[in-house]
Amino acid sequence: MKFFVDTADVAAIRELNDLGMVDGVTTNPSLILKSGRDIIEVTREICAMVSGPVSAEVVATDARTMISEGLALAKIAPNIAIKVPLTWDGLTACKAFASEGRMVNVTLCFSAAQAILAAKAGASFVSPFVGRLDDNNHDGIQLIEDIRTIYDNYGFKTEILAASIRSVNHITDCARIGADVITAPPAVIKAMANHVLTDKGLEQFLKDWGKTGQKIN
Ligand code: G3P
Repeated sequence: MKFFVDTADVAAIRELNDLGMVDGVTTNPSLILKSGRDIIEVTREICAMVSGPVSAEVVATDARTMISEGLALAKIAPNIAIKVPLTWDGLTACKAFASEGRMVNVTLCFSAAQAILAAKAGASFVSPFVGRLDDNNHDGIQLIEDIRTIYDNYGFKTEILAASIRSVNHITDCARIGADVITAPPAVIKAMANHVLTDKGLEQFLKDWGKTGQKIN
């Protein structure tokens, strides 16, 4: 399973990248606002640091302007994945980019029907929002399962990029189902290492080792 980091916070990306835990990065207008940085400048910095796909999102709502914005974003670096919303205009722009062999991430996906359209439009990635579905009493993980079944039924090449990940359980559920990628905030990825029994076990080992009076080197 590939790990994308869902942030435009360069320091947080660098920390996880140094740990070898970054296969890509996803940004969106809210994360760019949160970074307080210029979209082109910060995206270029992230693309230089990470070798995998870096999603940068268009903000237009009509296909023609989405295409010109997407081409401007694609100029930033070869590892840009152009992010478009799952609307008919977004799907039209996706088809145009895909026909030129460009990486496209179709975002704001909330149903299996939408995910089928993204695959048929040639998307490289589809981003179903797990957490936001759960926020609205829908089952986000069930959507990932349904998309996996449907994509496997027809051999769709689009990768399932589970987004709006809120917990470590979201990540393990997506892995169990076979999502291709998760994108999560840095803190959620870091929390994956946490386990109370690991802490307790290490504490006991160190206490017992202390009693030996020995040194390894
Ligand atoms: O990539 C989409 C993601 O950033 C949305 O996450 O937590 O705002 O639902 P969230």
